[in-house]
Amino acid sequence: MASNNKSIFRTKSIEGLLAQTASKGKGLKKVLGAFELTMLGIGAIIGTGIFVLTGVAAADYAGPALVLSFVFSGIACSFAALCYAELAAMIPVAGSAYTFGYVGLGEIWAWIIGWDLVLEYVVAVAAVAVGWSGYIVSLLKAGGINVPAALCNPPGQNGGIVNLPSVIILFIITLFLLRGVSESAKLNNILVVIKLAVVIIFIALGVGHVNPANWNPFFPYGVSGVFKGAAIIFFAYIGFDAVSTAAEEVKNPQRDLPIGIVGSLLVCTVLYIIVSAILTGMVPYAQYHNNAAPVAYALAQVGINWGSALVSVGAVCGITSVLLVMTFGSTRLLFSLSRDGLLPTVFAEVHPKFGTPVKSTLLVGVMTMVLSGFVQIGKLAEMTNIGTLAAFCVVSASVIVLRKKMPDFNRPFKCPGAPVTPVIAIIFCLYLIYNLPNFTKMVFVIWIALGFIVYFAYGKSHSLMNFEEETGTK
Ligand code: ALA
Repeated sequence: MASNNKSIFRTKSIEGLLAQTASKGKGLKKVLGAFELTMLGIGAIIGTGIFVLTGVAAADYAGPALVLSFVFSGIACSFAALCYAELAAMIPVAGSAYTFGYVGLGEIWAWIIGWDLVLEYVVAVAAVAVGWSGYIVSLLKAGGINVPAALCNPPGQNGGIVNLPSVIILFIITLFLLRGVSESAKLNNILVVIKLAVVIIFIALGVGHVNPANWNPFFPYGVSGVFKGAAIIFFAYIGFDAVSTAAEEVKNPQRDLPIGIVGSLLVCTVLYIIVSAILTGMVPYAQYHNNAAPVAYALAQVGINWGSALVSVGAVCGITSVLLVMTFGSTRLLFSLSRDGLLPTVFAEVHPKFGTPVKSTLLVGVMTMVLSGFVQIGKLAEMTNIGTLAAFCVVSASVIVLRKKMPDFNRPFKCPGAPVTPVIAIIFCLYLIYNLPNFTKMVFVIWIALGFIVYFAYGKSHSLMNFEEETGTK
């Protein structure tokens, strides 16, 4: 199935990938089931998006209509999730969108999506760390310790110089990852339970303090504000795709991956819609402007200080888990691109003692620390979103292409309504991209152009597939 030439559209074969995984799969224990996968998905999804960005999005973009932004983004993600589910069940190999692209669309697209995902993950980690910082600062404040504004804000925001807490947490996470992470599904389950409990406690405490007058006007920024808000809070949904990266550790991937991907997204969508409605009902939306801890803030405003502190502790725990998973994901991605020869192989070197890709980890650590220390959270989230939306488009397109190219290949889960569903997913995602600020689009175009330059200057000639084609190996 691999196209036997030096074309930039050469593809990897599913059979080859599966055989490769089977032969090297001795180290990876197949321990995860549908429940663990759903928990893993929720673990990666609920974080800075709901605990922090809801405030920015309500105050600056959508107002109380934020709830509709969550509905729109949720629908876009559901269509994309169905496409992810089909491909993950069909190609249960680590690498997610990058691997799907390599199989479905060819090397150049796989590279571009890998390059794009590096941007997405690194910027996402920085954004999530800023969210973590917002909550830790509010917790310290509650304990009587005031972190000076200059040291917990980036330049250009509230007189900031550097966001020190976010740099510190990323430094610690980098050290952890350098020493090796033993991913524990049990630990993740505990963190997810804390996170879910906090969200549910917020709903229970907040619902009685909703003042419907705060929902009026409902559309202070017009209907277009709903879509601008949707393009921002799309960030809150990112993470269900992470379920497919665990493909090689799943007991029954064909059945469990679709359940994990779609199930985790469904749970979070319902919670998000309720939380956003309550949040804008408790406090006038404008008060969330530049507020780094809106969920805790809302409870404090209605006089429930203990609830506010509890939510802050839960948010810090929850956001830490997102941070670990996503930083780990970035290093793993950089590692895969290097292992395939598309980036210098030094980034695929594994430390002899710790067994971790030290250079990839250090590179990711430095990039995320610089970004989170000096860039505002809104900008970081927007960059993450455009990268992810582009990845969703490629995954959806891969479903259509593979249905045509390999109509008879075993598909344990079929995206219902294809090709209409993937086409709608692409249209929704493109529409959300359109609604992102122009600056974000410009940075994205520059990043992708750089990607093409790197591919033609380096990746195309160093790709492992050159070697495979010459030797006939896959
Ligand atoms: N969805 C993840 C979060 O909101 C990235 O933190």
